Amino acid sequence: MTTSAGPAGTEGLPAALLLLGRDSDLSSERGVECPGELPSPSDPDLVERARAARAALGERAFVLGHHYQRDEVIAFADVAGDSFKLAQEAAARPEAEYVVFCGVHFMAESADVLTADTQQVVIPDLAAGCSMADMATLEQVEDAWEVLVEAGVAEDVVPVSYMNSSAAIKAFTGRHGGTICTSSNARSALDWAFGSRPAGSAKVLFLPDQHLGRNTAVLELGLSLDDCVVFDPHRPGGGLTGRQLRDARMILWRGHCSVHGRFTAANVADVRSRIPDVNVLVHPECRHEVVTAADLVGSTEFIISALDAAAPGSAWAIGTELNLVRRLATRHPDKRIVYLDRTVCFCSTMNRIDLPHLVWSLEQLVAGRVVNRITVRPDVAGWARAALDRMLALPKTR
Ligand code: 13P
Ligand code: SF4
Repeated sequence: MTTSAGPAGTEGLPAALLLLGRDSDLSSERGVECPGELPSPSDPDLVERARAARAALGERAFVLGHHYQRDEVIAFADVAGDSFKLAQEAAARPEAEYVVFCGVHFMAESADVLTADTQQVVIPDLAAGCSMADMATLEQVEDAWEVLVEAGVAEDVVPVSYMNSSAAIKAFTGRHGGTICTSSNARSALDWAFGSRPAGSAKVLFLPDQHLGRNTAVLELGLSLDDCVVFDPHRPGGGLTGRQLRDARMILWRGHCSVHGRFTAANVADVRSRIPDVNVLVHPECRHEVVTAADLVGSTEFIISALDAAAPGSAWAIGTELNLVRRLATRHPDKRIVYLDRTVCFCSTMNRIDLPHLVWSLEQLVAGRVVNRITVRPDVAGWARAALDRMLALPKTR
């Protein structure tokens, strides 16, 4: 594993979205310029070029595709999956010299942490970040920990960080004896965290998605909304009193997903009025009132399997990323599948990876040039790996 300006190099940057430019010249938008020539999106030979480059690389490369990627990209993925499955797949491919990660930056970082030093992880477009992951910087989280120390609760606090976080946050989590989770094992992660201290004493600091943390704690573990407090990194002391921190069981970081956070309870009511007997199925990154208004909640893989198992003729409104919902609608012509919100919203950073960028990165690899390599500094990677390994040992829940 080589060292580059890793996550720690981003400390102190002012605006969250600038973190998408990690490892790049911050005066230009990261990933917009590609060394060599980026194929034109209108190139009629793009698919053929992708096939040829993929064939030339053979088993030297392994292409991973997150379910939120565009169809044109998923068509070239050796494996498609959610963030948990892709982390497992990356860890299980020691023979691949290159792991081409069609997903977002934090996922590629995790792949680098989980693969051998001799393997190189490439992301076709460096601008494919995650606005939620950028809502928790290492500096903010270290400051928050100081607040917990001053309130006298730090010893009882177990950090549980969502996969959607930088490698630096994962390393913080590992250093403080915590675990990573994804939406498919958040319940197991919380069970593990609460069970890791004498009964009733543990508190969880859940980073950075307040909604996944709250939904899992309340709907799956039976905690109350009053057991949860929201730590706002932009307010002194997180905007909480020492008493509030001492009384809380779940300390939720004030972060959210800009895609799933758009869905509202009004969307649920609207779709129910338009489509009789519709089943509303949403991702746990949605707000609590949306999840409680829905019929089912679950991770990306859960959503896919629920639709695979659904009866022909049934109707579904899905609250997750649009590329996936469209693909599911195409895959199940015998079911009525609609997007929960009537106004369209893709995950813009996932969508940064398109066929031209994939062709470009594969052709560069064929030419012996490793572009857009994602590397995590060894000191960060060690602790991040400890937290990721703890997660990989947890049972899957939803
Ligand atoms: P999954 O963990 O379900 O893959 O979700 C990742 C993500 O980015 C959701 O917004
Ligand atoms: Fe991040 Fe949300 Fe996009 Fe997932 S859908 S990558 S959480 S912004």
